[in-house]
Amino acid sequence: MTAPPPAPDLFTWEFATDPYPAYAWLREHAPVHRTRLPSGVEAWLVTRYADARQALADARLSKNPAHHDEPADARGRTGIPGERKAELMTHLLNIDPPDHTRLRRLVSKAFTPRRIAAFEPRVRELTDRLVDGFAAKGEADLIHDFAFPLPIYAICDLLGVPAEDQDDFRDWAGMMIRHGGGPRGGVARSVKKMRGYLVDLIERKRADPGDDLISGLIRASDHGEHLSGNEAAAMAFILLFAGFETTVNLIGNGTFALLTHPEQRALLQRSLTGGEGAGGVGGGHGNGSGDGDLLATAVEELLRFDGPVEMATWRFATEPLRLGGQNIGRGDPVLVVLAAADRDPARFDRPDTLDLTRRENPHLGYGHGIHYCLGAPLARMEGQIALAALLTRLPDLELAAAPEELRWRGGLIMRGLRTLPVSFSPVVRNAG
Ligand code: HEM
Repeated sequence: MTAPPPAPDLFTWEFATDPYPAYAWLREHAPVHRTRLPSGVEAWLVTRYADARQALADARLSKNPAHHDEPADARGRTGIPGERKAELMTHLLNIDPPDHTRLRRLVSKAFTPRRIAAFEPRVRELTDRLVDGFAAKGEADLIHDFAFPLPIYAICDLLGVPAEDQDDFRDWAGMMIRHGGGPRGGVARSVKKMRGYLVDLIERKRADPGDDLISGLIRASDHGEHLSGNEAAAMAFILLFAGFETTVNLIGNGTFALLTHPEQRALLQRSLTGGEGAGGVGGGHGNGSGDGDLLATAVEELLRFDGPVEMATWRFATEPLRLGGQNIGRGDPVLVVLAAADRDPARFDRPDTLDLTRRENPHLGYGHGIHYCLGAPLARMEGQIALAALLTRLPDLELAAAPEELRWRGGLIMRGLRTLPVSFSPVVRNAG
């Protein structure tokens, strides 16, 4: 019998560039694996699809960082985001039922499928304006010029942040995405400014409500209960935060995957420019889609193949439990590796193949269970509109760097490119 190959190094530069071989090893040899994270915290990584789905739906795995028992350092920090209970941190992704149930029900009354559908023309307009900004140049950095500004302007519009203030958000969000994670230095200042702005905006909307999501959040009530000022600010903040870098990465990783899989890209391009409903956004509900609706299945497959959220956000065991043959101790942090689960050969046929026509695709890219992504319909719409616009308006788009030269941001939770240099034949203006 031959010994298995040695365990791969995690969290290195190579791993950030292509974590999938390491995840394949873990799935096979150590599917629930205790490791030391770069922050020094010890956590369990869950990499098989069946275990991941089970963990995401397990009520004994709490989202509340207070359940973590890692000893704090001299300054009371443990390296777990949100554990200091800053005002903005008591949001959906850090709380459990019954608070989670109440807040999720309230936000769902404002964040409705109808509101999202009505927002589609605005997303198209923003997308076109951004492409207009670089189409004549023949080259662009698609992260900086496109993937990054689109979601931030979209979510600001949806929330009701006035146009003249949206560039401030762009700056604060830029600071957060560049320096990621921990609430330190410039990031802490940006979070503070954003919070001050949101609290103020909520007060203004209370006095003078509009048609926007923040006014909707203030109006939403459930059995006579409303969101408190702090809850509304935390909610606005999580919508911005959860909806921003994720969508940047969907557009960035998705475009990168298309540009490095020319046959698949050509298939999608043909269906967008030649076939029925060219450029149309369809199949917004669920993973399946109607006949000929390749754009919708393509975006789901891009989410599965190289999704924006590499690991689901933190969970903590509230009692000892067994998972994948391991004993998880009370207080232990558990990270569910969505990127690994979505390449599990036990669940997906040819998991390492990008197949935009894949129909049976129950990927975990939006999570699973009670914390399933609230913004999935908006993300799908933005992803579909953005990719369709790039492929139809810049038909000979190509990478302007070798794929292996591109740098990935090294964060734990998200997976995304720092830059995506491309070139194409310059286009003077969209005649339509
Ligand atoms: C939750 C993925 C876009 C709002 C989640 C979770 C995932 C996810 C995996 C669950 C995390 C966990 O269980 O630990 C994504 C991806 C997106 C995306 C891949 C883009 C492609 C958005 C957008 C919004 C949004 C555009 C809102 C504007 C949220 C919220 C939660 C969430 C509020 C927390 C839900 C809860 O705890 O009940 N998302 N997301 N997301 N997402 Fe998204």
